[in-house]
Amino acid sequence: MVSFMPQTMNLQNDIPRHIAIIMDGNGRWAKTRGLPRVQGHRAGAESIREIIDAAKELGVEYVTLYAFSSENWSRPSSEITALMRLLEQFLESKRKDLMRQNVRLLAIGQLHRLPPATRKKLDQVIEQTKDNTSLTLVLALSYGSREEIVDAVRSIAQAVADGSLQPGEIEASHIADSLYTAGMPDPDLLIRTSGEMRVSNFLLWQISYAEIVIFDKYWPDFRQGDLFEAVAQYQKRHRRFGAL
Ligand code: FPP
Repeated sequence: MVSFMPQTMNLQNDIPRHIAIIMDGNGRWAKTRGLPRVQGHRAGAESIREIIDAAKELGVEYVTLYAFSSENWSRPSSEITALMRLLEQFLESKRKDLMRQNVRLLAIGQLHRLPPATRKKLDQVIEQTKDNTSLTLVLALSYGSREEIVDAVRSIAQAVADGSLQPGEIEASHIADSLYTAGMPDPDLLIRTSGEMRVSNFLLWQISYAEIVIFDKYWPDFRQGDLFEAVAQYQKRHRRFGAL
C-alpha cells in the first residue's frame, strides 16, 4: 500500500502514463544550507530514487527526468564534472535496483556530447535493462528541445532530398517519429519544482497537452507524497484536448 497517498487520488483510473519532471533548485537547496552546489545535486539524486519507487507503485509507464540540459554545458567545468561523476555513480548504484524492479532505462539528448566514461556506463545500463517491462525511466541528458526539433527537421529534409517523402506528405506523425522520443507516449503530466513557471526548452513538442503542476519546494525536498499530490491534481483537471 502506498503511504502518504492523498485521499482524493484514484489509484484505479486515470493514472498518467507518462510523467515528465524538471528537477529544479538543487543549487538553491544547497545554498540555503551553506553547502557546496554539488551537495544539492547529490541530494537531488536521492529524490530520484524515491520518485522511481513511487511512480512504479502507481503503475506509471514512463518517467522522463530533465537531468542535464544543452544549456548546462555552459556551467563551470567543475560543476559539469561533478554532475557527470554523480550520474556515473547513480547508474552504477541503481543498476541492480533497476533489474530487481524490472525498470528499463533510456536516454534522450545529444548523447555523443557526454564524456566517454559516462556514455559507456549509460550504454551498459541501457543494454542491461532493455528487456525490462514495468516502468521506463528516461534520462534527458545534454537535452534541448529546440536542438531535438532541428535534428528532426534535418532527418525529414534528408528524406525529402532523397525523394522518399514529398513535402506535401509531411504530417505531425513524421515529426513525432523523428524526435528522440519516437515511440513513447507524450507526457500527460509535467512537474516542475522550485516555483519557476517556465518549460525551459524541455519536450516542447511533446508537452502540447500535458497538465502542468508546479511545486514551490526545491527538488531535493521533493518526496513521494509530492508525486502523489501532483497525480491527484492531474486527476482533478478535466482534460478536453481543446474540444468541448
Ligand atoms: C537543477 O538544479 C538540476 C540540475 C541542473 C541537474 C539535475 C541533477 C540531479 C538531480 C542529480 C544528478 C542526476 C542524476 C540522474 C543522478 P540547479 O542546479 O539548476 O538549481 P538552481 O536553479 O537552484 O541553481
